[in-house]
Amino acid sequence: MKFLQYSVLPFLLVVVILSLSGATLAHSHGDFLLCLSLHLANSSTISKVIYMRNNPSYSSVLNASIQNTRFSTPATPKPLAIITPLKTSHIQSTIYCSKKHGLQRRIRSGGHDFEGLSYVSEVPFVILDLLNFRAVKVDTKNKVAWVQSGATLGELYYGIAAKTKTLAFPAGICPTVGIGGHFSGGGYGILIRKYGLAADHIIDAQLIDANGRILNRKSMGEDLFWAIRGGGGNTFGIVLAWKIKLVPVPAVVTVFTVNKNLEQNVTKILHRWQYIAHKLPDDLYVDVGITKVSSSQAGKKTVQVAFIALFLGGVDELIPLVQERFPELGLAKENCSEMSWAESVLYFGRAPRKSLDILLDKNVIPRTIFKAKSDYVKEPIPESGIEGFLSMFLEKEADFAAMLMVPFGGKMEEIPENELPYPHRAGNLFQASYIVGWRKEENAESGKYISWIRRFYSYMATYVSKSPREAYFNYRDLDIGSNNISGYTSYQQASIWGFKYFKNNFKRLVQVKTTVDPMNFFRNEQSIPPLSSP
Ligand code: FDA
Repeated sequence: MKFLQYSVLPFLLVVVILSLSGATLAHSHGDFLLCLSLHLANSSTISKVIYMRNNPSYSSVLNASIQNTRFSTPATPKPLAIITPLKTSHIQSTIYCSKKHGLQRRIRSGGHDFEGLSYVSEVPFVILDLLNFRAVKVDTKNKVAWVQSGATLGELYYGIAAKTKTLAFPAGICPTVGIGGHFSGGGYGILIRKYGLAADHIIDAQLIDANGRILNRKSMGEDLFWAIRGGGGNTFGIVLAWKIKLVPVPAVVTVFTVNKNLEQNVTKILHRWQYIAHKLPDDLYVDVGITKVSSSQAGKKTVQVAFIALFLGGVDELIPLVQERFPELGLAKENCSEMSWAESVLYFGRAPRKSLDILLDKNVIPRTIFKAKSDYVKEPIPESGIEGFLSMFLEKEADFAAMLMVPFGGKMEEIPENELPYPHRAGNLFQASYIVGWRKEENAESGKYISWIRRFYSYMATYVSKSPREAYFNYRDLDIGSNNISGYTSYQQASIWGFKYFKNNFKRLVQVKTTVDPMNFFRNEQSIPPLSSP
């Protein structure tokens, strides 16, 4: 790859960049910034692309997409600079200069990484933020779309809904999640039973590799194309854009919510759900959300289990189906609403009946402080086991805790485990995830909340997958293992977390990494390592 060349060294730029970088910067940092500004070679571009710590906009650009504010405290390590490229050559220049001057980079699309790995590092680093790469081009005739990594799921859904009510895309529930990280790690949502993952519907991509080359599916080859569809972000390169296949949905779908609590026989109903939800017709998705709520008895708390569903059809077809297959739920017509698929995304995002414009609002989901974990369940949990975890929600540390149970079966049962890096397919009844939050003013006591979720996770060990205890890559959890912060990480060490996320696909991911990025240029605490030390 031939990097952008600069023939003239504009003296003015040198003065600008050195004054902006501040006299206290370490030598290599200053050299990096100088290198980058010379490559950008235009002072008006520099001010739109490089945000250094003394730039008045630095904090707002940094915080703009931090979803987990656990990683937005004064103690959180901050980047030397945030680079917001306007065009591909700016990304190539950042790769070139950070490589030349030995700086780590964090790649950020939507900033929803559970452990903040797209904007935090313990070693000196810069952030490459793709916030300007957010185009969505929908082609309804061919039922495909190109979407850039910096766009959000909401922007993609909005782009589809603006053109048609009968096409959709099977990706995540939360509209503020970024395309770049989400697609890189698999990506599931309410169409999972009908269509599988977001990654299952990617048909091409544009990627910049560690040498600055721009590759597409054909030029990157099928191994690398396989790896980027679920093998995790910040390992194989920077994915700029994805070509996706859209899927058909009816113009009218139906949603419902049925809430049950401890006083309403919920343990038995939840127990039954485990036998039913993964075997329902693919058009019906019924997930479970568990939280602590106020009880009808004054001053008391109870645990609420919400059964929330999407049906790809009308209410008149849905009611008899649920009454036959899951009578324990007691579904009534008044629990149900008909709407378009895009509106159902708002419903699941807890913004029902609002204008679809809300899909474009990057702040629609409140920023919170949290720690989360995930599991896969292959055998129904006995009633005694369910009682045990429901009772943990009554503990005081669980005021802002939740558990989500996502039914599998359907398409997930049909796709082989090694089709893509995401391996959790046939044989899973559901994916379970746990989250605990706390208030900002409780940050000093965060340890007790993190202990709670670790205890909860220990409790669940009896009932979930074993050897390995599987986990979902996109629900990143550094508790399950991590690479060395600096220096080489061996295959054995990375296997500790790698097999949990990827099972045997981890081996192929390591082979691809060794071929395409043997120097381990793209790395973080849970990136796939090459086989030998660079
Ligand atoms: P972010 O920008 O933080 O990136 C995540 C990782 O990918 C980082 O390692 C980053 O370096 C890397 N990366 C980002 N862009 C890249 C690019 N262009 N090229 C290469 N690497 C890149 N998941 C799910 O499957 N279904 C769901 O419904 C939800 N819902 C949900 C709600 C909320 C509130 C949160 C916080 C998270 C979810 N998730 C989810 C999890 C989500 O899929 C996961 O956190 C994604 O990695 C987020 O992608 P972002 O681009 O937003 O993250």
